[in-house]
Amino acid sequence: MADPTKGVILITGSNRGIGLEMVRQLASSAATVIATCRRPDEADDLHELADAHTDTVDVLQLDVTDPDAISGARSMVEERYGALNLLINNAGVNGGGTADTFDHVDMETLMHTFQVNAAAPHIMTRAFASLLKAGAADGNSAVVNITSQLGSITNTKGRGTWQSYKASKAALNMLSRLEAHELRADGVVVVAMHPGWVQTDMGGSNARLTPEASVSGILDVVRSLSPDDAGRFLTHDGSELPW
Ligand SMILES: NC(=O)c1ccc[n+]([C@@H]2O[C@H](COP(=O)([O-])OP(=O)(O)OC[C@H]3O[C@@H](n4cnc5c(N)ncnc54)[C@H](OP(=O)(O)O)[C@@H]3O)[C@@H](O)[C@H]2O)c1
Repeated sequence: MADPTKGVILITGSNRGIGLEMVRQLASSAATVIATCRRPDEADDLHELADAHTDTVDVLQLDVTDPDAISGARSMVEERYGALNLLINNAGVNGGGTADTFDHVDMETLMHTFQVNAAAPHIMTRAFASLLKAGAADGNSAVVNITSQLGSITNTKGRGTWQSYKASKAALNMLSRLEAHELRADGVVVVAMHPGWVQTDMGGSNARLTPEASVSGILDVVRSLSPDDAGRFLTHDGSELPW
Protein backbone atom coordinates (compact mmCIF):
# COMPACT_ATOMS: atom_id res chain seq x y z
CA MET A 1 0.00 0.00 0.00
CA ALA A 2 1.34 3.44 -0.93
CA ASP A 3 2.02 5.68 2.06
CA PRO A 4 -1.06 7.94 2.46
CA THR A 5 0.90 10.38 4.67
CA LYS A 6 2.89 11.44 1.59
CA GLY A 7 -0.15 12.37 -0.49
CA VAL A 8 -2.98 14.90 -0.30
CA ILE A 9 -4.31 15.02 3.29
CA LEU A 10 -7.29 16.76 4.83
CA ILE A 11 -7.48 17.27 8.61
CA THR A 12 -10.46 18.65 10.55
CA GLY A 13 -10.05 20.72 13.72
CA SER A 14 -6.45 21.59 12.85
CA ASN A 15 -6.15 24.92 14.69
CA ARG A 16 -5.14 23.44 18.07
CA GLY A 17 -4.41 20.25 19.98
CA ILE A 18 -3.89 16.98 18.13
CA GLY A 19 -5.03 18.43 14.77
CA LEU A 20 -2.49 21.25 14.86
CA GLU A 21 0.29 18.80 15.74
CA MET A 22 -0.74 16.62 12.79
CA VAL A 23 -0.31 19.59 10.46
CA ARG A 24 3.09 20.31 12.06
CA GLN A 25 4.34 16.74 11.56
CA LEU A 26 2.94 16.32 8.05
CA ALA A 27 3.88 19.75 6.65
CA SER A 28 7.35 18.65 5.54
CA SER A 29 6.50 15.20 4.17
CA ALA A 30 3.03 15.39 2.60
CA ALA A 31 2.33 16.59 -0.92
CA THR A 32 -0.42 18.81 0.52
CA VAL A 33 -2.03 19.29 3.91
CA ILE A 34 -5.46 20.86 3.73
CA ALA A 35 -5.70 22.17 7.29
CA THR A 36 -9.30 22.94 8.09
CA CYS A 37 -10.76 24.76 11.08
CA ARG A 38 -13.89 26.65 12.07
CA ARG A 39 -12.32 30.08 12.48
CA PRO A 40 -9.18 30.59 10.39
CA ASP A 41 -9.12 34.28 11.41
CA GLU A 42 -8.32 33.24 14.98
CA ALA A 43 -5.98 30.35 14.11
CA ASP A 44 -2.65 32.13 14.72
CA ASP A 45 -0.59 28.98 15.41
CA LEU A 46 -1.92 27.33 12.28
CA HIS A 47 -1.18 30.38 10.14
CA GLU A 48 2.35 30.50 11.51
CA LEU A 49 2.81 26.90 10.36
CA ALA A 50 1.19 27.58 7.00
CA ASP A 51 3.45 30.61 6.43
CA ALA A 52 6.49 28.42 7.07
CA HIS A 53 5.22 25.78 4.58
CA THR A 54 3.49 27.75 1.84
CA ASP A 55 4.17 24.98 -0.69
CA THR A 56 2.36 22.27 1.29
CA VAL A 57 -0.12 23.72 3.83
CA ASP A 58 -3.44 25.09 2.64
CA VAL A 59 -5.75 26.56 5.33
CA LEU A 60 -9.47 26.13 4.71
CA GLN A 61 -12.50 27.23 6.74
CA LEU A 62 -14.67 24.26 7.71
CA ASP A 63 -17.20 23.80 10.47
CA VAL A 64 -17.84 20.06 10.30
CA THR A 65 -21.47 20.49 11.36
CA ASP A 66 -22.22 22.56 8.24
CA PRO A 67 -23.18 20.32 5.28
CA ASP A 68 -22.83 23.23 2.81
CA ALA A 69 -19.31 23.92 4.05
CA ILE A 70 -18.46 20.21 3.67
CA SER A 71 -19.70 20.17 0.11
CA GLY A 72 -17.80 23.41 -0.62
CA ALA A 73 -14.60 21.88 0.78
CA ARG A 74 -15.13 18.79 -1.36
CA SER A 75 -15.50 20.91 -4.51
CA MET A 76 -12.37 22.87 -3.65
CA VAL A 77 -10.32 19.69 -3.12
CA GLU A 78 -11.64 18.20 -6.33
CA GLU A 79 -10.81 21.30 -8.38
CA ARG A 80 -7.38 21.88 -6.85
CA TYR A 81 -6.12 18.33 -6.27
CA GLY A 82 -8.48 15.88 -7.99
CA ALA A 83 -8.00 13.22 -5.30
CA LEU A 84 -7.50 12.70 -1.58
CA ASN A 85 -5.14 10.14 0.02
CA LEU A 86 -5.85 10.66 3.69
CA LEU A 87 -8.85 12.08 5.54
CA ILE A 88 -8.30 12.61 9.27
CA ASN A 89 -11.61 13.24 11.02
CA ASN A 90 -10.08 14.77 14.13
CA ALA A 91 -12.45 17.57 15.22
CA GLY A 92 -14.29 16.72 18.41
CA VAL A 93 -16.00 18.10 21.49
CA ASN A 94 -16.09 16.72 25.03
CA GLY A 95 -19.83 17.11 25.57
CA GLY A 96 -20.45 17.95 29.23
CA GLY A 97 -17.13 16.38 30.32
CA THR A 98 -17.05 15.36 33.99
CA ALA A 99 -20.40 17.10 34.64
CA ASP A 100 -22.06 14.83 32.09
CA THR A 101 -23.47 12.22 34.47
CA PHE A 102 -26.67 10.19 34.27
CA ASP A 103 -28.35 12.77 36.54
CA HIS A 104 -27.21 15.84 34.61
CA VAL A 105 -26.91 14.86 30.93
CA ASP A 106 -29.30 16.90 28.77
CA MET A 107 -30.73 16.69 25.27
CA GLU A 108 -28.83 19.67 23.87
CA THR A 109 -25.43 18.38 25.00
CA LEU A 110 -26.18 14.87 23.77
CA MET A 111 -27.32 16.06 20.34
CA HIS A 112 -24.46 18.52 19.78
CA THR A 113 -21.88 15.94 20.87
CA PHE A 114 -23.36 13.32 18.56
CA GLN A 115 -23.44 15.86 15.73
CA VAL A 116 -19.77 16.86 15.98
CA ASN A 117 -18.23 13.54 17.07
CA ALA A 118 -20.26 10.98 15.11
CA ALA A 119 -22.53 12.44 12.42
CA ALA A 120 -20.04 14.98 11.04
CA PRO A 121 -17.15 12.53 10.46
CA HIS A 122 -19.55 10.17 8.69
CA ILE A 123 -20.88 12.92 6.42
CA MET A 124 -17.29 14.04 5.77
CA THR A 125 -16.27 10.52 4.75
CA ARG A 126 -19.26 10.16 2.48
CA ALA A 127 -18.62 13.56 0.87
CA PHE A 128 -14.96 12.73 0.17
CA ALA A 129 -15.48 9.05 -0.72
CA SER A 130 -15.13 9.47 -4.49
CA LEU A 131 -11.95 11.56 -4.07
CA LEU A 132 -10.53 8.95 -1.68
CA LYS A 133 -11.29 6.26 -4.25
CA ALA A 134 -9.44 8.36 -6.84
CA GLY A 135 -6.54 8.65 -4.35
CA ALA A 136 -6.45 4.88 -4.03
CA ALA A 137 -5.68 4.51 -7.73
CA ASP A 138 -1.89 4.42 -7.02
CA GLY A 139 -2.17 2.23 -3.91
CA ASN A 140 -4.60 2.62 -1.05
CA SER A 141 -5.95 5.70 0.64
CA ALA A 142 -7.18 5.94 4.20
CA VAL A 143 -9.69 7.50 6.56
CA VAL A 144 -8.67 7.88 10.21
CA ASN A 145 -11.56 8.59 12.54
CA ILE A 146 -10.11 9.94 15.77
CA THR A 147 -12.20 8.21 18.39
CA SER A 148 -11.55 7.40 22.04
CA GLN A 149 -11.08 4.39 24.26
CA LEU A 150 -13.97 5.96 26.21
CA GLY A 151 -16.16 4.82 23.29
CA SER A 152 -15.38 1.17 24.02
CA ILE A 153 -18.60 -0.47 25.25
CA THR A 154 -16.64 -3.53 26.37
CA ASN A 155 -14.40 -1.44 28.62
CA THR A 156 -17.26 0.59 30.13
CA LYS A 157 -17.80 -0.70 33.63
CA GLY A 158 -20.13 0.85 36.19
CA ARG A 159 -21.51 4.37 36.39
CA GLY A 160 -19.71 7.22 34.78
CA THR A 161 -19.14 10.78 33.63
CA TRP A 162 -18.57 12.00 30.02
CA GLN A 163 -21.78 10.19 29.03
CA SER A 164 -22.51 12.16 25.81
CA TYR A 165 -18.88 11.88 24.74
CA LYS A 166 -18.63 8.14 25.41
CA ALA A 167 -21.87 7.41 23.54
CA SER A 168 -20.86 9.64 20.60
CA LYS A 169 -17.52 7.86 20.23
CA ALA A 170 -19.25 4.45 20.41
CA ALA A 171 -21.45 5.69 17.56
CA LEU A 172 -18.37 6.88 15.66
CA ASN A 173 -16.84 3.43 16.13
CA MET A 174 -19.88 1.78 14.56
CA LEU A 175 -19.90 4.27 11.69
CA SER A 176 -16.17 3.63 11.15
CA ARG A 177 -16.87 -0.08 10.81
CA LEU A 178 -19.70 0.56 8.35
CA GLU A 179 -17.53 2.96 6.31
CA ALA A 180 -14.75 0.36 6.24
CA HIS A 181 -17.08 -2.24 4.73
CA GLU A 182 -18.45 0.31 2.27
CA LEU A 183 -15.08 1.53 0.97
CA ARG A 184 -12.63 -1.38 1.29
CA ALA A 185 -13.36 -2.80 -2.18
CA ASP A 186 -12.23 0.52 -3.67
CA GLY A 187 -8.93 0.49 -1.79
CA VAL A 188 -9.90 2.96 0.94
CA VAL A 189 -8.91 1.70 4.42
CA VAL A 190 -11.02 3.15 7.24
CA VAL A 191 -9.91 2.80 10.87
CA ALA A 192 -11.06 4.14 14.23
CA MET A 193 -8.02 5.40 16.15
CA HIS A 194 -7.65 6.28 19.85
CA PRO A 195 -4.86 8.88 20.19
CA GLY A 196 -4.02 8.03 23.82
CA TRP A 197 -4.61 10.43 26.72
CA VAL A 198 -3.06 13.61 25.34
CA GLN A 199 -2.09 17.00 26.80
CA THR A 200 -4.54 19.25 24.96
CA ASP A 201 -7.42 21.50 26.01
CA MET A 202 -9.59 18.37 26.00
CA GLY A 203 -7.11 15.97 27.62
CA GLY A 204 -5.87 18.43 30.27
CA SER A 205 -2.38 18.94 31.63
CA ASN A 206 -2.30 15.67 33.62
CA ALA A 207 -2.58 13.59 30.45
CA ARG A 208 0.14 11.01 29.83
CA LEU A 209 1.15 11.90 26.28
CA THR A 210 2.38 15.04 24.58
CA PRO A 211 0.65 15.86 21.29
CA GLU A 212 4.04 15.20 19.61
CA ALA A 213 4.23 11.62 20.93
CA SER A 214 0.57 10.85 20.20
CA VAL A 215 0.66 12.16 16.64
CA SER A 216 4.00 10.57 15.87
CA GLY A 217 2.48 7.21 16.94
CA ILE A 218 -0.73 7.77 14.97
CA LEU A 219 1.21 8.59 11.80
CA ASP A 220 3.46 5.53 12.22
CA VAL A 221 0.32 3.38 12.45
CA VAL A 222 -1.16 5.07 9.36
CA ARG A 223 2.08 4.44 7.41
CA SER A 224 1.88 0.75 8.25
CA LEU A 225 -1.82 0.24 7.41
CA SER A 226 -2.71 -2.60 5.07
CA PRO A 227 -6.08 -3.47 3.52
CA ASP A 228 -6.53 -6.09 6.28
CA ASP A 229 -6.65 -3.28 8.85
CA ALA A 230 -9.91 -1.88 7.45
CA GLY A 231 -12.53 -1.62 10.19
CA ARG A 232 -10.13 -2.02 13.15
CA PHE A 233 -10.20 -0.03 16.42
CA LEU A 234 -6.56 0.85 17.05
CA THR A 235 -4.57 3.03 19.41
CA HIS A 236 -1.69 5.42 18.65
CA ASP A 237 0.77 2.60 19.44
CA GLY A 238 -0.85 0.19 17.00
CA SER A 239 -2.49 -2.04 19.61
CA GLU A 240 -6.13 -3.06 19.23
CA LEU A 241 -8.99 -2.00 21.50
CA PRO A 242 -12.18 -3.99 22.13
CA TRP A 243 -15.39 -2.55 20.72
N1 LIG B 1 -6.86 14.76 24.21
C1 LIG B 1 -7.18 13.50 24.53
O1 LIG B 1 -6.73 12.96 25.57
C2 LIG B 1 -8.06 12.70 23.62
C3 LIG B 1 -8.29 11.35 23.97
C4 LIG B 1 -9.11 10.58 23.13
C5 LIG B 1 -9.63 11.13 21.97
N2 LIG B 1 -9.38 12.45 21.67
C6 LIG B 1 -9.96 12.97 20.43
O2 LIG B 1 -8.96 13.63 19.67
C7 LIG B 1 -9.57 14.62 18.84
C8 LIG B 1 -8.84 15.94 19.00
O3 LIG B 1 -8.95 16.31 20.37
P1 LIG B 1 -7.95 17.33 21.10
O4 LIG B 1 -7.49 16.66 22.31
O5 LIG B 1 -6.97 17.91 20.14
O6 LIG B 1 -9.02 18.43 21.57
P2 LIG B 1 -9.03 20.03 21.53
O7 LIG B 1 -7.69 20.55 21.84
O8 LIG B 1 -10.19 20.39 22.39
O9 LIG B 1 -9.36 20.35 19.98
C9 LIG B 1 -10.61 20.06 19.44
C10 LIG B 1 -10.60 20.53 18.00
O10 LIG B 1 -11.87 20.22 17.41
C11 LIG B 1 -12.34 21.39 16.77
N3 LIG B 1 -13.78 21.43 16.62
C12 LIG B 1 -14.75 21.33 17.55
N4 LIG B 1 -15.96 21.48 17.00
C13 LIG B 1 -15.76 21.68 15.67
C14 LIG B 1 -16.61 21.91 14.56
N5 LIG B 1 -17.94 21.96 14.70
N6 LIG B 1 -16.05 22.05 13.32
C15 LIG B 1 -14.71 22.00 13.18
N7 LIG B 1 -13.85 21.83 14.19
C16 LIG B 1 -14.37 21.66 15.42
C17 LIG B 1 -11.84 22.52 17.66
O11 LIG B 1 -11.95 23.76 16.98
P3 LIG B 1 -12.26 25.15 17.76
O12 LIG B 1 -10.95 25.68 18.24
O13 LIG B 1 -12.90 26.00 16.71
O14 LIG B 1 -13.18 24.83 18.90
C18 LIG B 1 -10.41 22.05 17.88
O15 LIG B 1 -9.62 22.33 16.76
C19 LIG B 1 -11.04 14.69 19.28
O16 LIG B 1 -11.84 13.96 18.36
C20 LIG B 1 -11.04 14.01 20.63
O17 LIG B 1 -12.28 13.46 20.97
C21 LIG B 1 -8.60 13.24 22.46
